[in-house]
Amino acid sequence: MTKEWNLEQYDTYTEAPAEEPERQFYYMAKCRKYVKELAEKLGHAPTCCVTTFGCQMNARDSEKLVGILEIIGYEIIEDENADFVIYNTCTVRDNANQRVYGRLGVLNGFKRRNPNMKIALCGCMMQEASVIEKIKTSYRFVDLIFGTHNIYKFAELLFTTFVSDGMVIDIWKDTDKIVEDLPVERKYPFKSGINIMFGCNNFCSYCIVPYVRGRERSRDPKDIIREVERLVADGVVEIMLLGQNVNSYGKNLENPITFAQLLQEVEKIEGLQRIRFMTSHPKDLSDELIEVMKHSKKICRHLHLPLQSGSTRILKEMNRRYTKEQYVELADRIRREIPDIAITTDIIVGFPGETPEDVEETIDVIRTVKYDNAFTFIYSKRTGTPAAAMKNQVPEDVVKEGFDKVLKVVQDTAREQVSRYQGMVMDALVEEVNEHDSSLLTGRLSNNTLVHFPGEKALIGQIVNVSLDECHGFYYIGHMV
Ligand code: SAH
Ligand code: SF4
Ligand code: F3S
Repeated sequence: MTKEWNLEQYDTYTEAPAEEPERQFYYMAKCRKYVKELAEKLGHAPTCCVTTFGCQMNARDSEKLVGILEIIGYEIIEDENADFVIYNTCTVRDNANQRVYGRLGVLNGFKRRNPNMKIALCGCMMQEASVIEKIKTSYRFVDLIFGTHNIYKFAELLFTTFVSDGMVIDIWKDTDKIVEDLPVERKYPFKSGINIMFGCNNFCSYCIVPYVRGRERSRDPKDIIREVERLVADGVVEIMLLGQNVNSYGKNLENPITFAQLLQEVEKIEGLQRIRFMTSHPKDLSDELIEVMKHSKKICRHLHLPLQSGSTRILKEMNRRYTKEQYVELADRIRREIPDIAITTDIIVGFPGETPEDVEETIDVIRTVKYDNAFTFIYSKRTGTPAAAMKNQVPEDVVKEGFDKVLKVVQDTAREQVSRYQGMVMDALVEEVNEHDSSLLTGRLSNNTLVHFPGEKALIGQIVNVSLDECHGFYYIGHMV
C-alpha cells in the first residue's frame, strides 16, 4: 500500500496504549528504533524473508507480516539467508509439517554463521501442542513462535523477541477478536485477497483447520467494503474474497447478511473489475448465489466446489453433509444457469474405510461433472480429528492405486474440458512475465485458466484480449488481439 504510516506520535508515548490497533503502532515505533540501531551496526538495512506454506489465507496473513516488517525498516528479500526469517506454516497434511522441519535444519546452518539472525514460526502448525513441544526440545534456535489467533500482535511479539534472550512463545487457543486497519503489503499491485471471515465450524472429520483456526467469525461488511474501496483506489482490479466456507458468511453477524448480498455490495464498487472467492462448501451454496453470479458483470466464471469424495457413504463418514446425488444435482444446476462457468474441486483418496468401489464413485462424479481442474490429495491422518481415531485406515499401496486412477481421470477430463475454449478470444488479466520464457506474458482468464502469449512487461496489471490458440492440458498458448 502506498499509504504513509506516521509512527512519530507513538514515539512519545511512555506506556503502550491498551486499545488496538494503536497498541501495535506503538510497538512498530519501538521496533523501528531497534531496527535502525541494528542497521547502523550492520552498515545496511537488515534483511528479512517471509516464507509461506499452505492456502490463500496464509498468503494473505503473510502480506500482513510483510507490511509490518517493511514499516519497521527491514528490507524484504526472497533469500532465507537473511537477518530475520519467518515461516508461516500449514498443517492440513503431514507433508506440509515435514517440509517445515526439514527446512528448519537449513536455517540453523545460516544462523550459526549470522549471530544477528532471528527465526520466527507462526501459522496453523503452531496451534498444535505436539509441534510446540517438538520445537522446544529439538529446535532450540527458534526465537519466536506465535499462532493464528494473535497474528495481529506481531509487532508487539517482535519487540519482545528483540529485547529477550530465550525463545518467545505466545499461542492462544481461540479468539473472537478481529483487529482492523493494520498495515498490509501486497505481493501483486493489481490483485489482492481479502479475508471476509476467519475460522471454520464445519468439522469435516478428516480436517484439522477448525482446531487450528478456531470458530467461524465474519468481518463486518462495512469493513470489507472499505478495504476493497481502498485497494481499488490503490490500483487493484481483481479481488479474491477469502474464507474456509464463504457460503456461510454473515450468518452470525449482529445484522445478518448473506454471502450473495455481500457480493452485490462489492460489485457496486467502481473501478473494481473482477471478483473471485474461495472456498464454497456445497452444502451451503444457495440459489441466491447462483442467481447473483449469473447476472454479475464482475464475478469471475469460476467456482471451486470441493467434492472430497463421490461416495455417499464416505461423505457421511467425512461429515460433509451432502450426498453424491445432491452434489451432482448442484453442479448440474450451476452449469445450466451459468454455462460458461469453470468448476474446479478438491478430492481426497484413502479416507478410512474407503474401498475401490468408493473410489469408482468418485471417478463417476469426476466424469459427470467434468472439472476444469481438480486437486487430488492422499488422505493424511491428523491427530485430534475424528477420522484419525477410525480403525479402518486404508493401507498405503491400496491408497496409491486409487490415487493414480483418480489422477488419470482428472487429467483426462480436465484436458478435454479446458480445450473447449480453443480458438475463442477472452479477457486475460496480465499477471507476470512467464517464468520459463521471458518473451511471454502470463495472464489469467475469468475462468481461472492461464494463458501465455507474447507481449510487453508494461501490460502487467491490465486486462487484455487474448486469442486462445493452443491448449496444453491445463493452460493455453495464445496471442493478443
Ligand atoms: N475449507 C475448504 C478447504 C480447506 S483445506 C473446504 O472445505 O473446501 C483444502 C483441502 O485440503 C480440502 O478441500 C481437502 O481436500 C484437503 N484436506 C483437508 N484435510 C485433509 C487431510 N487430512 N488429508 C488430505 N487432504 C486434506
Ligand atoms: Fe476443513 Fe471442512 Fe472446514 Fe473446509 S469446511 S476447512 S474441509 S472442516
Ligand atoms: Fe493450511 Fe492453515 Fe490454510 S492448515 S490450508 S494454512 S488454514
